[in-house]
Order: sequence, then structure tokens, then C-alpha cells
Amino acid sequence: MSNKATFANPPTGDSKAIVTNQDGIHEKLEEIVVKHLEHGFKKPIQPHTQRAFDELDALVRGFDGDIILDACCGIGQSTRLLAKQNPNALVIGVDKSDHRISRNVEQHLPEDVSGVDNYRLVRADLNDFYRLVKQANWPVTKHYILYPNPWPKAKHIQRRWHGSAVFPDIVATGQQLILRSNWRLYLEEFQAAAKLAGRDGNITEIAVNKPLTPFEAKFTASGQTCWQLIVD
Ligand SMILES: C[S@@+](CC[C@H](N)C(=O)[O-])C[C@H]1O[C@@H](n2cnc3c(N)ncnc32)[C@H](O)[C@@H]1O
Repeated sequence: MSNKATFANPPTGDSKAIVTNQDGIHEKLEEIVVKHLEHGFKKPIQPHTQRAFDELDALVRGFDGDIILDACCGIGQSTRLLAKQNPNALVIGVDKSDHRISRNVEQHLPEDVSGVDNYRLVRADLNDFYRLVKQANWPVTKHYILYPNPWPKAKHIQRRWHGSAVFPDIVATGQQLILRSNWRLYLEEFQAAAKLAGRDGNITEIAVNKPLTPFEAKFTASGQTCWQLIVD
């Protein structure tokens, strides 16, 4: 395979910069996060996510190596690349979109991943999946959330992962949590929310040489900065 990057959809530099009506961390962030930390999330688990989890749970329990979770994995490009970079780990990519998960993209990734099989892609709703991971106490070493939907309007704060009812389970997953976004304020809010849950994190600008995901490629091609929060 040539080492020239090829993509399922070549990255175009047409990503618009995030527009928000917030001028800093959301004024209700602390109130929302504390409420979620104090009260469990009781909504019933959907059967399709329970089934998907149960299949993987058996695999995880029988696996003797690092478990890496790639949440919101989209087409699973990052899942495959992380699996290649971590041959002794089991990498689990989760996305709610069946269309994205099932896309046949292997021929079009920026790197050859033929022969890489230490990963699984699963269609599930993370609002449920995270709670099951926490209940089962999966030994996740690294937990990636790469370019989640930003929901930049202030009124949509509870759609951001740190504003969601499942946030306590998210922040408790993984020895290390790696979150990337082209919107620094998203990471600042997540960092503040993680602090309320007792975990510290650092934000840095990343130099993208080889994009890990299609969104990272698109933002980079559009001249936008990609940021990373690492919560240890
Ligand atoms: C902006 S895309 C980023 C995809 C990929 N990580 C990338 O960087 O190219 C966000 C992804 O999050 C997924 N997603 C959003 N809410 C979700 C949920 N509740 N459960 C699972 N996946 C979700 C969407 O289906 C979408 O694929």
C-alpha cells in the first residue's frame, strides 16, 4: 500500500468554526454536574445496548490485556488505528449509528490495517453502555472520546457529555481519559466537571501529523486547531 493518505471521503477544508452564544464555561455547569454526581441515572437500559454489551462482556472477561474504549468512534477509523498501535490490547469502538459502524472503510484508511483484528465495533447508545461498563467494572486503561458532537448553543449544555446524566459513569471509566475537540471550551467544561468528580486533567493543543479520525482530518484541513484533554 502506498503511504500516501487516502480516505473514504477525502477530508475537505470546509469545516466552519464553532459559533456559540457562551462567553465562557456555562453558568449552570457546576449545578448540573453536582446534581448528576449526587443522583444516579435510573433510565432503563435499552435492550439493543444490553445485548451488545453482554456479547462484549464475555470477551472482556476472558481477555488478558489492556482494554481500550473508543467512544463515539464513528466509522471506527480510530478504533482500527488504535488496535494497530496497541497489538496486545482489545480496542472496543462504540457508536450509536449503525450506518457508520457498518461502513466498509478498511481499504480507505490513511494506514494499512490489514491483519489487525484486536478490535470490535459495536452499535450501542453510550447513555446506556457507559452505565453497563461501570456496573461490570471493566478494567479500561485508556478511554478515548474523539470529537464528540459539540452542541455549542448554551441551551444544549445537557447534550454535551459533561452535562449529561451519564457523566459520573463516563468520568469513572478508564485509568486515562483522552478527549479531543476543535472547541476548546468543550474541553474546559469537561475538565471543570471532571474536577468536581475528583479527577484532574490537562488541556493541550495537538500537532496533527496523521489524523486519528475523519473529523480530525477535516478540522485540520480547515486550518482549525485540535485540542486534547487528558484526565489521569
Ligand atoms: C462528530 S462524530 C465523531 C466521530 C469520530 N470520533 C471522528 O472523530 O470522526 C460524533 C459521533 O458520536 C456518535 N454519538 C453521538 N451520541 C452518541 C450516543 N449517545 N451513543 C453512541 N454514539 C453517539 C455519533 O453517531 C457520531 O458518530
